Amino acid sequence: MVVTESIRIERTKHSRISQVDFANLPFGKIYTDHMFMADYRDGEWKNSRVVPYGHISISPATPAIHYGQAIFEGMKAMKSPTGDVLVFRPADNWMRLNVSGERICMPPVPEELFMEGLSTLISLDQNWVPKDEGSSLYIRPFLFSADEYIGIRPSENFTFMIILSPVGPYYSTPVKVKIETQFTRAAEGGTGYAKAGGNYGAALYPAKLAQDEGYHQLLWTDGKTHQYIEESGTMNVMFVVDDTLITPALSDSILAGITRDSVLKLARKWGMRVEERKVSVTEIMEAAGSGRLREAFGAGTAATIAHIELIGFEGKDYYLPAIAERKFANRVYEELEGIKRGTRPDPFGWITKM
Ligand code: COI
Repeated sequence: MVVTESIRIERTKHSRISQVDFANLPFGKIYTDHMFMADYRDGEWKNSRVVPYGHISISPATPAIHYGQAIFEGMKAMKSPTGDVLVFRPADNWMRLNVSGERICMPPVPEELFMEGLSTLISLDQNWVPKDEGSSLYIRPFLFSADEYIGIRPSENFTFMIILSPVGPYYSTPVKVKIETQFTRAAEGGTGYAKAGGNYGAALYPAKLAQDEGYHQLLWTDGKTHQYIEESGTMNVMFVVDDTLITPALSDSILAGITRDSVLKLARKWGMRVEERKVSVTEIMEAAGSGRLREAFGAGTAATIAHIELIGFEGKDYYLPAIAERKFANRVYEELEGIKRGTRPDPFGWITKM
């Protein structure tokens, strides 16, 4: 592992690792001993540092709080049977961070800063990477504006950070989703393709209404006609109808998921018919009604491969086949987990050892 000399390191004096029950990890509630930070000031990235994990001090006038000038990423690291820490596709997350940043007027984070910040942090906190199947180290890089100015304009100062969280599954059971045809997550020309904090905040209320009805999540539809399925907010969505893997084509209202891309690459490698195109609600509900919808699942870093148990539409719940029968989703889950953990070959070069 390369540790850049320019990254200042301040180690914690009180590790919290002995307090963690690694056999029962929740998602996103436990953080490791350290975090990475860097500041963008006067047009340059400076003051890269790894410091003890803890609260940060920001101006109450920072536009990140008022106007949502903030973006984030999600990645995972796992421990191989030989004890190496393996990170899944970090360069793809770095690139997507900068795609998101451009959309809301943020400076690019240089690849070196991202990668060396990550590897320095992970090397300090490597004992926090869980070993057990089903658990992993969730990596959350994020970038937010840090001006002290409440006028509306792109900021000039920013903070980039990475925090790490040992996690268990995001969804501990197959998910119940409801097709949303009233509210909109993302509109054409909007920020739906960016991993911008505001997209997630704006989706909370419609998702909460669905959760009050017993669903876990929504299946968002397009903002114009509500006739086409887009994504699920916490994950992209995929369907197996007969023998074909179908998923909504990327657009400016859908996040370009890295797990989505990985699933499509594996499916094509295995010779499966794959269609990335507009997917209408009618088509999926007809396939569900006639038994041709054999599988449906979400694909995301946090969610991994999340089987969809049922789809709610217009007041009716459509149950999908038993999870044990879902050949493709089960196979792709096993394959991805194996690649991430270093127990299966990595033909696409997705793994970075840190
Ligand atoms: C991720 O999968 O990394 C995300 O950012 C989704 C979020 C729901 C945790």
